[in-house]
Amino acid sequence: MSNHLLRVSGLFAGTEDKPILHDVSLSLGARETHVLMGPNGAGKSTLGRVIMGDPAYQVTDGSIQFDGCDITDQSADKRSLAGIFLSYQAPVEVPGVPLYSYLRTITQKRPELKMTARKFRARVGEIAEQLDMDSSFITRELNVGFSGGEKKKIEMLQLLLLQPKLAILDETDSGLDVDALSVVSRGIEAYRAACDGTLLIITHNTRILERLSVDQTHVMVRGRLVAEGPGSLIDDIDAHGFEQFERAAEGTDAQ
Ligand SMILES: Nc1ncnc2c1ncn2[C@@H]1O[C@H](COP(=O)(O)OP(=O)(O)OP(=O)(O)O)[C@@H](O)[C@H]1O
Ligand SMILES: [Mg+2]
Repeated sequence: MSNHLLRVSGLFAGTEDKPILHDVSLSLGARETHVLMGPNGAGKSTLGRVIMGDPAYQVTDGSIQFDGCDITDQSADKRSLAGIFLSYQAPVEVPGVPLYSYLRTITQKRPELKMTARKFRARVGEIAEQLDMDSSFITRELNVGFSGGEKKKIEMLQLLLLQPKLAILDETDSGLDVDALSVVSRGIEAYRAACDGTLLIITHNTRILERLSVDQTHVMVRGRLVAEGPGSLIDDIDAHGFEQFERAAEGTDAQ
């Protein structure tokens, strides 16, 4: 039997007044790379946030197992400590909190990542260089005034620093120019090389996937996973769009 790091079973979730996810089941094995695609508004970001434990969403049925534990009712903080990381589609700005202090705080919470301030500074510098980041970013306030592409690099910096077991990257590639896109691709590769983690990449931009070997592609339409297939399914979506899956979703909506 394959070793599942994350197993989402029969999940129904949404906000207080809007059901969004319907009967979603998804299994991600250790060290696998999965891609989640689907039209705008399908529920992809919602799934990422529900796996992360965002309190804005309620699970009304089904379960989420991570690394052998049922985390369906766990707080986001606990899930983060257990090794789940979500890179947000639109990272929030946090005025008054310097990026450096934020990074130091989140790493100090992890016993396995504890290190001296000197080592930490060196590690952050090393990753920033790997990501082609301006060294002045570190002293600036978290995400405040950063361009869209720069914010995505900050997300990658956190990913490489925290080395989570599961990284959910929600459109980490959107709004990036060609050079920044290649930096993010390199960041993903560095993550894979450093800690051999599992990736769930939510994207509309298949260029980010060109250098990655994808184990499985999932398609979400109107809150349901309507298809899954090998990495080559991405080429099919590129060529033909989501229409074929929309029709499949109409069938399940009617049931
Ligand atoms: N907090 C919320 N409050 C109200 N509606 C929400 C909330 N979060 C998501 N939704 C709605 O749920 C649906 C799915 O949204 P979601 O952001 O998950 O889509 P998506 O697949 O990520 O789309 P995109 O490709 O545009 O990023 C949308 O109709 C959205 O408006
Ligand atoms: Mg989204």
